[in-house]
Amino acid sequence: MEWRPVEAVPRATMGEDAGVTTADHAPHEHSQGDLRPGHDSHADQGPDGLDRFSDLAATWDERPGTLERATSVAAAVRAAVPLSSSTCVLEIGGGTGLLSRMLADEIGTAVITDVAPGMVSTATRVLDDPRYAGWRAEMFDVERDALPTQRYDLVLSMLALHHMGDIATVLGRIFELVAPGGHAALADLEHDADGGFHRHVHNFHGHHGFTREALVSGLERAGFVDVTVDVAGHDTKEVDGEPRRFPILLAVGRRP
Ligand SMILES: C[S@@+](CC[C@H](N)C(=O)[O-])C[C@H]1O[C@@H](n2cnc3c(N)ncnc32)[C@H](O)[C@@H]1O
Repeated sequence: MEWRPVEAVPRATMGEDAGVTTADHAPHEHSQGDLRPGHDSHADQGPDGLDRFSDLAATWDERPGTLERATSVAAAVRAAVPLSSSTCVLEIGGGTGLLSRMLADEIGTAVITDVAPGMVSTATRVLDDPRYAGWRAEMFDVERDALPTQRYDLVLSMLALHHMGDIATVLGRIFELVAPGGHAALADLEHDADGGFHRHVHNFHGHHGFTREALVSGLERAGFVDVTVDVAGHDTKEVDGEPRRFPILLAVGRRP
């Protein structure tokens, strides 16, 4: 088994803030909405970087808009992918597993994975409920870890891809994780040209969302067919003192 237990990963030292600071943040050179490697994503794991997710984990589900986002993305997944009580799901960058949990009545089991130990601990606690019998949460870095041998009927992710570096490689790895005939359903921020979505995240090095064209061509290049990309919901954030709505896209592809 290649999954790493949560205890095996040392808890990194956090910076002083969990991600919302006053940093002046302009979109960097990789903000064209394409899939080009934007950064070494683990460079984010310093103060205010990816490790902020561990500290945010305990209260993640209570953050404004989080449940609403998961509800609308789950509805879009339901509409786009055939689900049944035998559907085995793998969620990548799943945090507390909200997206899979929204689909609990329509799927079989789910493995919720994340690179942030705090998220995996919180997910493990939340999954300790009869509704999620047979589910589990595991440490898994989809960019770097050896792939498990098991294949899944459905690989999900929500707002995780834009934190990663080489998206084309990640999509290829996701393709490997999908069983033949199965699907990937990946929700992420639509290209945010002026970087407003992450304006208040100090030292953000990820992607400022993706264009629909980049997602379609990325999934097709990875090997997926019947690729669709549609708006699955919106996130509202205050940017420069004004509420702004950011579209969330759902990209779906089938492994032949
Ligand atoms: C914005 S949060 C979204 C969490 C959850 N999907 C949700 O929408 O509630 C992004 C998540 O992606 C995870 N992540 C980032 N890079 C990752 C990687 N390389 N492998 C696995 N998870 C990753 C982060 O730790 C974080 O929990």
